[in-house]
Amino acid sequence: MKRIINNFIYFLFIIEFALLVNSCKNDNEEDLKICDTTNVSYSSIKTIFDNNCVRCHNDQINNNDILLNTYENAKTAAESGLLYKAVNHLSGATPMPYQLPKLENCEVRKISIWIETNTPE
Ligand code: HEC
Repeated sequence: MKRIINNFIYFLFIIEFALLVNSCKNDNEEDLKICDTTNVSYSSIKTIFDNNCVRCHNDQINNNDILLNTYENAKTAAESGLLYKAVNHLSGATPMPYQLPKLENCEVRKISIWIETNTPE
């Protein structure tokens, strides 16, 4: 009898463990990452443009006259209103990056905050 009880406790323990492991999983891993949106400036978001946009928006190739390779150029793109719409996939601009998935939520938020706070350098 004792053995049966022990086995039962062991069984409960396994179930408990399985539930615990499962509860820590999240379908949207991205939401769990911390997005630091304090002191957003061009220098803190430049790598987002460099990694995702500059290959199509530089001095040689500048689709729709959008250049994202320098502070001044990115500021001009922001002031046109197109940058905000393009990265947020809003109507009125072609969604960017071009024919690729939307940037990560955190990246979109940072670019949006940078524009909303008047493009600090
Ligand atoms: C693979 C090349 C490519 C990449 C990468 C790319 N773009 Fe573009 N971009 C284009 C093309 C092509 C257009 C012109 C689209 C059109 O006329 O419909 C464009 C246009 C734009 C426009 C103007 C949109 C409009 O409706 O006039 C903005 C703003 C822009 N891109 C921002 C970005 C940003 C920000 C990124 C990075 C997150 C990016 N692009 C990445 C090719 C690219």
